Amino acid sequence: MNYSSTTSTGYRSARVTVVGAGKVGSTLAQRIIEQNLADVVLLDVVEGLPQGVALDLSEAQGLELHDRTIIGTNDYADTANSDLVILTAGLPRQPGMSRDDLIGTNAKVVGEAAKQAISYSPNAMLMLVTNPLDVMTYLAWKVTGLPPQRVIGMAGVLDSARLQTFIAMELGVSIGDVTTLVLGGHGDLMIPLPRYCTVRGVPLPELLDPATIERLTERTRNGGAELVKLYKRGGAYYAPSSSACLMAGAILNNQSRLLPAAVYLNGEYGLKDIFIGVPCRLGNQGVESILELKLTEEEQEALHQSAASVRSNIDNALASFG
Ligand code: LAC
Repeated sequence: MNYSSTTSTGYRSARVTVVGAGKVGSTLAQRIIEQNLADVVLLDVVEGLPQGVALDLSEAQGLELHDRTIIGTNDYADTANSDLVILTAGLPRQPGMSRDDLIGTNAKVVGEAAKQAISYSPNAMLMLVTNPLDVMTYLAWKVTGLPPQRVIGMAGVLDSARLQTFIAMELGVSIGDVTTLVLGGHGDLMIPLPRYCTVRGVPLPELLDPATIERLTERTRNGGAELVKLYKRGGAYYAPSSSACLMAGAILNNQSRLLPAAVYLNGEYGLKDIFIGVPCRLGNQGVESILELKLTEEEQEALHQSAASVRSNIDNALASFG
């Protein structure tokens, strides 16, 4: 019997590169392998760190009983032929900082990482997690020259998950019965849409009064900052890594899931040449389609304000990358 590294059916596992072995990247790598989604290559510039995380997670494989492998590396050549590249590298926020305060530093990190990773995996999908999210997604698209359908930013899934949590906590209902939708940029101007939030199909405004809904949506807008304040050094990583993992699953399993994510708009919602959070269908070809909701005038205005803020930072980011 001759055992080889591919299975007897010749099936090749999907391969995901995660760039950045910090808390978000390493937790994401863990979720991907332990959910049996794909083999992972974890890359970081810090010598020893990705190798350490990969070895530690490998030593848990027999306990978690999954079939996926993980390697840690400092060399992009080891990431070649990935199906999906997820960029988490960059500085996290410190207390008192906004996501936009990270532009200068993270533009250099993300621009370089996107170029390098895609040069070794030209057919990959590219997912951004680094903040400021919508701006970094635009930058990564621009520097790689990938078709816009293959570039996507993770934020709406996280923001919606936070609102889902707060609604379930408020009503004392099972979280599985709650669905939520948050649009716009991943910043203070994000737009939670209570009328598109339901508990087992019942619209939220029928279950909670406007003041309570406002309190929960405000907590959602500040969801990232609330965690930065508690952790003091760095931001959230459990829910962000779960969110990125869910999107990775939609892509790798070709699920055509309807999820809010930062995608390239070319006229949809009256916006052009920008990445911002809207509902889209996500499968193994990337963004399959964008769903244009009928927004009220107020919601549309809020989306455009959020877009104006993202746009004003894009030039900054492009200049910082040089
Ligand atoms: C947050 C960061 C990841 O919202 O932006 O927690």
